This record gives sequence, C-alpha cells and structure tokens, in this order.
Amino acid sequence: MAAELVCFSPGCRARFRIREPIYSCPRCGSLLEVDYPGWRHDPAALRTLWRERRLSNGPLDQSGVWRYREFIGFLEDYEAVVTLREGNTPLLEAPRAAEYGGLRRLLFKHQGFNPTGSFKDNGMTCGVAQALRLGMKRVACVSTGNTSASMAAYASAAGLDPIIFIPHGNISYGKLAQALEYGARTLQVEANFDQILALVRELAARLGIYLLNSINPFRIEGQKTIMVELMDQRDWRPPEWVVLPGGNLGNTSAFGKALRELEQWGFIDRLPRLAVIQAEGAAPFYELARTGEFHAVGHPETLATAIKIGDPVSWPKALAEVSASRGVVERVSEQEIADAKAVIGLCGIGCEPASAATLAGIRKLTAAGVMAQDADVVAVLTGNVLKDPDYIYRYHTGALEAPDGSRIAPRFGNQPVVVPNDAARIAALLSG
Ligand code: F0G
Repeated sequence: MAAELVCFSPGCRARFRIREPIYSCPRCGSLLEVDYPGWRHDPAALRTLWRERRLSNGPLDQSGVWRYREFIGFLEDYEAVVTLREGNTPLLEAPRAAEYGGLRRLLFKHQGFNPTGSFKDNGMTCGVAQALRLGMKRVACVSTGNTSASMAAYASAAGLDPIIFIPHGNISYGKLAQALEYGARTLQVEANFDQILALVRELAARLGIYLLNSINPFRIEGQKTIMVELMDQRDWRPPEWVVLPGGNLGNTSAFGKALRELEQWGFIDRLPRLAVIQAEGAAPFYELARTGEFHAVGHPETLATAIKIGDPVSWPKALAEVSASRGVVERVSEQEIADAKAVIGLCGIGCEPASAATLAGIRKLTAAGVMAQDADVVAVLTGNVLKDPDYIYRYHTGALEAPDGSRIAPRFGNQPVVVPNDAARIAALLSG
C-alpha cells in the first residue's frame, strides 16, 4: 500500500505521487491530503502493538506520534526521522473547570506538555521528515508563534535551515524567544498573519524553500495522532465531544480526518462531535457555520494572538470535518477567554489564552443546551501556560486591555503583594 496525495476538492480529487513537493492541487488550487488507498491492518493487533511500544526505549516508539506510525504510513522507512519525543501528552481531570463549564466532568488533553510547548510538535516532526525525504535544505513558515517555535526546533535538530516569518509586534515573547533560541532566521514582517502567508507562499515557490504551514498535508498527518493517542488513553472509547480552538483550522482538519479514519478502519465505533471555538474578533469560521458563506475578516483582533487569523486557509477541510462529525462552531469574547484561562490555572493545569477558548466555549454551549451537562467531553489545550506570561500578569493585576481598549475585569485575579522584610508584619498579614 503506497500513500498518495489527493486533492481535497470533491469536484477534482486528482491524485499525485507522495514525493511531489506540492501543497495545493496543481490542477485546481485546492488543499491536498494524504490518502492511504487499500489501508489494511488489523486494528486489534495494532492496538496491542502500540501499547507494547510504550515499554520500548526506541526513539520512534517513545514518540507519541511515531508510535502510531502505521496510522500515518507516508514514509517508506524511518531512518531520517527526527523526534524530540513529541506527543505523550496527558489527559487531565479538571473538576473545577468542569463546574465552571457547566459539566459534571471534563478532561483536558494538554498539548502544552510537548517539547516546545504546543500541539505543533505533533505535526512538525512529520513535516520535517517529509522535508528531509524530499532533500530540502531550507524550511519556512508564517506563524502566530507556536508553529515557528516548533519548526525552529525540529528543523535545527534535523540540520535544516529554518526561516520564520512573524507578524511584527503580534506574537508573545515566549514564542519569539523560542525561535531565536532554536536558531531560526527570524523575519518580523509589518503585516498580519494572512497577508504574510500569501507572501511566504510566493517566496517558497520562488526560492525552492519547503513550506511548513498547516497547508502542508504532512503536518496534518502528524496532528492526527493527537486523536489516536487520546483514543488509546481512553481504551478506544470515544468521547461525545472533542472541543478545540480554531485559528487557521489545520487542527480541526487533522482531528476530523483522524476520527473519520479511526472509525473507517475499525478502531472506534462512532464519531465524537467536534466543537470548534473562535475568538469573537477573529471568527470567520463561526460566521461561515452560521451563514453558509465564507468571508475573510480583514483585521482580526484578539489578545489570544495564536488564533488571531482572519483568512484561515484550511476552512474547506474544516467545514467538511465539522459537518461529518455533526459538530458546532462557537465564538467567545476576550473577557470569557481570560476568565476561563484563569479557571484552568486554578485547576493547577494552566494554558495559553487561545487554549482557554475551549472552556469558555463549553460554558456557552452548555448554557445554550447544545452540550448536555452529563456529556462526555474532552477539550484540547493547545499551548503551555508559559507561552504568554505577559498576558497572565496583566490579567491578575487588572491591567489587561482588550483590543478595543476596554479593560478586562480580573474576575479571578490574584494580585501579588509587596511586603517589607519584616516577619511580624508578614505574619500579621497572613493571619488576617
Ligand atoms: N491554539 C494555539 C496555541 C495555536 O498556536 C494555534 C495556531 C491554534 C490554537 C489554532 O490552531 O490554526 O490549527 O486552527 N497557531 C498557528 C501558529 C497558526 O502559527 O502557531 P489551527
């Protein structure tokens, strides 16, 4: 069985060899996906094999992506694969967040436990493997910060030259710092994410640089394993809902594809519903789901900079996946994101702002009766709490301002207190 690239557009479905360095269909310009015609494995045997690999010291087996390599079989051999032991992220019980979200029980699949602190690592190990297989020397991406941090790490580990493009002044310092530390050539462009993506696509074609944005179908293959690992952790019992934030919509596409394939290939017996949550100021996918028409948002605005995207490239895939899963799309305000984030912090878990859109969305969906109080729900936290410490400090000290200049109320604020170096006075303060 050989993997192939297939055009995602139902009217085209053209097929291409897996080694062609293309990101969109040369015939019609639509998105591409990896297809495995005649995929034939015994799901029961694979489940056992995947479990056994957890006991192995082999680097590929220790990776929460490559452990499931039969599910993403686009390589002939694995010699050149670079793994930082991505994946392997925990499924965490969060009673306080469940209560806040209007649920009896809620589990967080925390992708912030990845080597560079976000879910991008799951996809990047695959994207970089494909770049190596194609003999590419330079790789590039535009990013709101996490893709660039991840690409910088994996490309440098693989001996490739990483070039990243970021919207100047619009990514968190934690993420920018990672790109610098991991040795990426870092270009801060005076434009927004959507404008820079168009620029980078042109440059990649002109300079022969391999593009590692989520339009790259191999990144999507890697991100599929987030769902495979989730089902493995749940002994192959699918939840009723999988909730995730939506930005460029690569992850929605990846989760949808993974779940469809898991069902089709006999690993699970029903599809969970996807609930995609966007920030109010950057919600073109929400509007698409509501009105049936796609209109890019010209000037997206949100403090959750990871999802500050107005023209998500993967919307056709994401729309098909959300409908296939009978899913929903919701949007949440800056205040709702900030409060939900603080509640996730109070669970001892923490996450970056974009990830907290999940809990804010759950709270809205349960209040509206779309999600039942006793539903079996997994929310995916996409990034680590330390990605954006500036946001946290501002929230807790009452200094966080929404893009429209309004002040975010620190409803769960936790002010640090300055005290003199005086045991008696500190004791008095603490006994008060
Ligand atoms: N959460 C975080 C923390 C992200 O970094 C992103 C995307 C998303 C959610 C949305 O995922 O784009 O697949 O819908 N970050 C990209 C980046 C765009 O450049 O790091 P999506």
